Amino acid sequence: MAPSAQPLTTSVPDEKYANVKWEDLGFGFVRTDNMYVAKCKHGENFQEGSIVPFADFHISPCAAVLHYGQGLYEGLKAYRTEDGRIIIFRPDQNGLRLQAGADRLCMPYPSVDQFVSAIKQVVLANKKWIPPPGKGTLYIRPILFGSGPILGSFPVPEYTFLVFACPVGRYHKDNSGLNLKIEDKVRRAFPSGTGGVKSITNYCPVWKTLAEAKAQGFSDVLFLDAATGKNVEELFASNIFIVKGNVVSTPQISGTILPGVTRKSIIELTRDFGYKVEERVIPVEDLLDSEEVFCTGTAAIVTTIASVTFKDKKSSFKTGEKSLAAKLFATLTDIQMGRVEDTKGWTVEIDRSHQG
Ligand code: COI
Repeated sequence: MAPSAQPLTTSVPDEKYANVKWEDLGFGFVRTDNMYVAKCKHGENFQEGSIVPFADFHISPCAAVLHYGQGLYEGLKAYRTEDGRIIIFRPDQNGLRLQAGADRLCMPYPSVDQFVSAIKQVVLANKKWIPPPGKGTLYIRPILFGSGPILGSFPVPEYTFLVFACPVGRYHKDNSGLNLKIEDKVRRAFPSGTGGVKSITNYCPVWKTLAEAKAQGFSDVLFLDAATGKNVEELFASNIFIVKGNVVSTPQISGTILPGVTRKSIIELTRDFGYKVEERVIPVEDLLDSEEVFCTGTAAIVTTIASVTFKDKKSSFKTGEKSLAAKLFATLTDIQMGRVEDTKGWTVEIDRSHQG
């Protein structure tokens, strides 16, 4: 049995903040108060779920997610603004991406409205865990998985959509620039596979590669395409951009690269700055020949890349306050944190009157 959707019985405590040392926040699990759960039987649609106390749950040892990896996750953030509002960033985009992934993995999915409503409910039910402005964010983790038991037969009898949240600080500790290893043997994704959706099966298979790179002193790994081994794809958990003159390039969405919500937003902001943005195939040589390189993601935000090492040869790039990455980081986070007017319509304000 997956978590049961019993209505929340305890009232949400009214303190403004949980007892957290906000300055010490990293990007790790912090247990918060409540989560959202909705279930759906095969052949039916997801109905409205409930907020329940955050807790471990029982699941059949034969659940599809445990054996066949039928699961997706999403990541988005809620921000507390200086003027006391709570906002979330482009939740509809995560809802749409979850739907695309669910379709690929043969799962029913919540509507975008249900998805956004669940996010709002989880944020409100964990309000005191949203860090003070400038001291972190509330990272929201929606997951969708085959919770019903199957052994060999298909389809799966039951699916669970669950959302929880944790306060987080920075994902990459080193703000001065990442040092990447370009991985020339192990591939993250392959044509017609699941690299283009946020399948839970995309991550653990490259942990070993990431751990080895970290043991060698690198901050992260940059993967190449499986078909040719010649073109840049993405990092472990973020999209990559290269800058040369007035042209900014990023690998095109081709089924092996995750269509990042931050990637999409950064493409728009970069064009607003007057740069030409190309979504294209990027040979490793083009990356090595760039002036500046940065990566984007919900967790990574916009992170500058100081160097890449390919077959033991290190290439370095521009970093610092005058970089495009720094300008994009400032512009994006100003919007996300409600410090400037959101002329794009990207932020969604949550208020107490939200009833789901
Ligand atoms: C995110 O940026 O939200 C991700 O899913 C990456 C994860 C490894 C933290």
